[in-house]
Amino acid sequence: MSHPVAPVEPHVMTTYGRLPIALSHGRGSRVWDVNGKQYLDALGGIAVNTLGHAHPKLVPALQDQVAKMIHCSNYYYNPATEQLAAQLVERSGMTNVFFCSTGLEANEAALKLARKYGHDKGITHPQIVVYEKAFHGRSIATLSATGNPKVQAGFGPLVEGFIRVPVNDIEAIRKATAGNPNVVAVFFEAIQGEGGVNPMTPDYMQQVRALCDTNDWLLMIDEVQCGMGRTGKWFAHQWAGIVPDVMPLAKGLGSGVPIGAVVAGPKAAHIFQPGNHGTTFGGNPLSIRAGLETIRIMEEDGLLDNAAKVGFQLLTALTTQLMHVPGVKEVRGKGLMIGIELDRPCGALVNRCADHGLLLSVTADSVVRMVPPLILTGAEADELVAILVPQIKAFLAE
Ligand SMILES: Cc1ncc(COP(=O)(O)O)c(C=O)c1O
Repeated sequence: MSHPVAPVEPHVMTTYGRLPIALSHGRGSRVWDVNGKQYLDALGGIAVNTLGHAHPKLVPALQDQVAKMIHCSNYYYNPATEQLAAQLVERSGMTNVFFCSTGLEANEAALKLARKYGHDKGITHPQIVVYEKAFHGRSIATLSATGNPKVQAGFGPLVEGFIRVPVNDIEAIRKATAGNPNVVAVFFEAIQGEGGVNPMTPDYMQQVRALCDTNDWLLMIDEVQCGMGRTGKWFAHQWAGIVPDVMPLAKGLGSGVPIGAVVAGPKAAHIFQPGNHGTTFGGNPLSIRAGLETIRIMEEDGLLDNAAKVGFQLLTALTTQLMHVPGVKEVRGKGLMIGIELDRPCGALVNRCADHGLLLSVTADSVVRMVPPLILTGAEADELVAILVPQIKAFLAE
């Protein structure tokens, strides 16, 4: 077998179907396993490793922070927290930030904000519009908002108060909410990640923004996977020229150090009062430093432009080489968030690509998904294509 080490973990809960690979270290967009085999990392810890691995500017900053302070309670001020909040506010055009540690936590906070927004207006049974194929996390509330029966199976009763609609269909959302006084918010990913790299169209996002304005609903955009520069703008919805009222972030924000955030605009910024929400680790000095350094290095190194440029190169090459291959339905995405939809389940491609030195994932059963570090070079993109395209062709030809 190509991976001689298949570790067993008798004491670890089997929540993930692991590949027979144990990674040991990384550098840039490459990682090595414990046997010394090298891989090009097109998964990036699932859209987390913004700066790749062991970035020479990030490592000393984190070492410095660890030596000063890793954690202190939210009972005290950490001056860096305000700095990171101000930077997110400036880049989003919104006003206030709540910090937490993960994507589901950020989304959970967003759902609480929406409910309290309703209660503050006298709506005692608030409802939130969510989407087919959405993924918002695995807590009871966020899995209830998620549009994937597999994620929900076995965990009922689900949290109530969600209305589900298809993506990019403005008539469907109008119809589903018509005359309903309990609707308080609309919640979507600007580009669905786990659902198969499904972008909301700019037109649709603008129309939903207008619908929310007309009805005094909160527009909440989950940028946990597609945000933080991945598409070539700070946040993917910015391609539509709109500003949401609530925006959960996580994943790429700390370049590997766990951090989440909920950014809010004026309509949602003052809904939470002391005692309404909180989390022990949220905004701890290590995660805040990771966020600050990630943004600083992204700007110093021009990583938004890089994501747009290398992403376009990748999308163009994959489209050109795969478009006419029978079994390939679509190549889509924006920046360094790219999906290739096949006409059949293709989970087997994950192992096959790993055998050939390329890490990626398959999501929604039949979509090959790439969310590499934003430092990916043009040459590495070429290498990725050179490994992936023959694998897809061989797989489809079987
Ligand atoms: C869009 C989106 N929201 C939320 C989450 C949940 O984030 P976490 O796994 O950090 O809880 C994910 C994770 O994949 C995601 O893609």
